[in-house]
Amino acid sequence: MPKLFCSLSAAAALAFPPGALAYPGGTPLFVTDVAPYCASCHSSLSTEQLRGAPEKRIQSELAGNKHIRKIEAAQPDGPYATLTPAERVALIRGIRAIDAASRVEIAAPAAVKAGELFEVTVTTTGGGGPVIGIALVDAAHRWQARPAASAGWQIVKQPRVLGADGADQTKFMSGRNPELPAGISYVNVYGIETNPAAGEFASARVIYQIRAPLQPGRYPLGAVFLYGTEKAAPHGAVKEVWGQRPLGGFTGSSGRVRFSEVIEIEVR
Ligand code: HEC
Repeated sequence: MPKLFCSLSAAAALAFPPGALAYPGGTPLFVTDVAPYCASCHSSLSTEQLRGAPEKRIQSELAGNKHIRKIEAAQPDGPYATLTPAERVALIRGIRAIDAASRVEIAAPAAVKAGELFEVTVTTTGGGGPVIGIALVDAAHRWQARPAASAGWQIVKQPRVLGADGADQTKFMSGRNPELPAGISYVNVYGIETNPAAGEFASARVIYQIRAPLQPGRYPLGAVFLYGTEKAAPHGAVKEVWGQRPLGGFTGSSGRVRFSEVIEIEVR
């Protein structure tokens, strides 16, 4: 990440009240289509999602190198130096358990008619919480995926969010200006509770109403899952008067970028 951006974010973290912060805690102000490249601080969980980039660059984005290694090394001037070696082991174990359990799946018809209105459901398990981010994209590529609409999928109305309790949740979408079209492909889901030691992970669903492109052909559609790990792992949350922040900090690498399978839907 460019240094300038890093220090700007750090300055923003100091200058704004936490409710206005757009990183850990989700992105309550970015109520619009999101492309995964925006999550520059997050770590990747596969080399596949960075295919085409130089090998060194790919390696530097992987969670093991970008995040876990920083905890293991615990540089004296870094955030993890406050933990004992045993606490660092517990933190890493918790983070790995969250990553191992976290996944995102997409369910959509294999074929639709040109211009047809149809439904797509994205289901997640895990993510550290208390917030997760879900979006529809056209490729499982961290730096080059486009929001689904760029591939021709028109999201016709506000996505329906079903939280971990199975109930409808409108918190994120209620932040969208009513003057603007409500059909966006990104949402934050709130109320995600995770207990990696007990093997307890939350599940959430987002249901989209989509109009198929008018031009017949094969069109790709997948989901991206953005989540945090540290606040839900042992010793990973730091209590502040306003709430909790990840030990690694707002500009740390404890966020994740994960993709579902990308399906090719036939438009007839
Ligand atoms: C300045 C660094 C940075 C950038 C840029 C960034 N994030 Fe994050 N994000 C983080 C960190 C650090 C966490 C992890 C919190 C944790 O580990 O508990 C996180 C976690 C999240 C979470 C889960 C929040 C939670 O409280 O559990 C969501 C959702 C998210 N990011 C979405 C986004 C989106 C969308 C973008 C782009 C618009 C983005 N992030 C860009 C640093 C960043």
